[in-house]
Amino acid sequence: MSSRKKLIAGNWKMNKTSADAVALCTEIVAAVGRQADVEVVVCPPFTAIESAAKVLDGSNVKLGAQNMHPEASGAYTGEISAGMLRALFATHVILGHSERRAYFGETDAFVNKKVLAALKNQLKPILCVGETLAEREAGTTLKVVQTQLEGGLEGVSKDQAPTVVVAYEPVWAIGTGKVATTEQAQEVHAFIRGLLVKLFGDAIAQKVRILYGGSMKPANAPELLAQKDIDGGLIGGAALEARSFVDLVNAAAAAK
Ligand code: PGA
Repeated sequence: MSSRKKLIAGNWKMNKTSADAVALCTEIVAAVGRQADVEVVVCPPFTAIESAAKVLDGSNVKLGAQNMHPEASGAYTGEISAGMLRALFATHVILGHSERRAYFGETDAFVNKKVLAALKNQLKPILCVGETLAEREAGTTLKVVQTQLEGGLEGVSKDQAPTVVVAYEPVWAIGTGKVATTEQAQEVHAFIRGLLVKLFGDAIAQKVRILYGGSMKPANAPELLAQKDIDGGLIGGAALEARSFVDLVNAAAAAK
């Protein structure tokens, strides 16, 4: 049994209008808005953050964004800063998601700037790492994960580290219905924990939540969440409906 509180975060990606977000958040708050066993975060698109915030206000469900720019303000057309997210009461931000890396060219160095800017603004980064299918087949999974993790966390202090959340998301399992086996997932999670020990020392590394992401569903969640180093989930598809998202929160509560 771990002392880390499980965390279930919903990554809505480019789905839902602000009216849709009100409806979905209303259902989530009604079902799990008062429980405190599991930390619950929803990450709507930017355009729905303000309307979601109003529904989540006063509940235990927290608000996150899916991305941000490292600079505080300026000539960055189309971008959003940490301060803007804080002003809407966001507490978390997903950074370095594989879709951002693959489609928008985000490098470890750029993701690192965002991580540092998020922490400076009291936003908790959910730093995503994970290998592609080709990398897994080439046997380079751990090397890829190590490079992304160490690159993303460069310059993070021991004081800041416990607020960081890491999400291990094998790219080949995202949105594909192809979930990693519990052994595959736990192996990488334990490896990440070991890297965190080297970076920050054992006591701090034991506080960091490491989420699994990639086709996590109510049916496969209990087994994944029972693993020693799997502290929750970053949920895509199954976060778009209240029923499956709430079932995942309940699975995390049962696994604690
Ligand atoms: P999925 O997405 O649950 O739809 O596989 C997870 C993610 O990309 O964060």
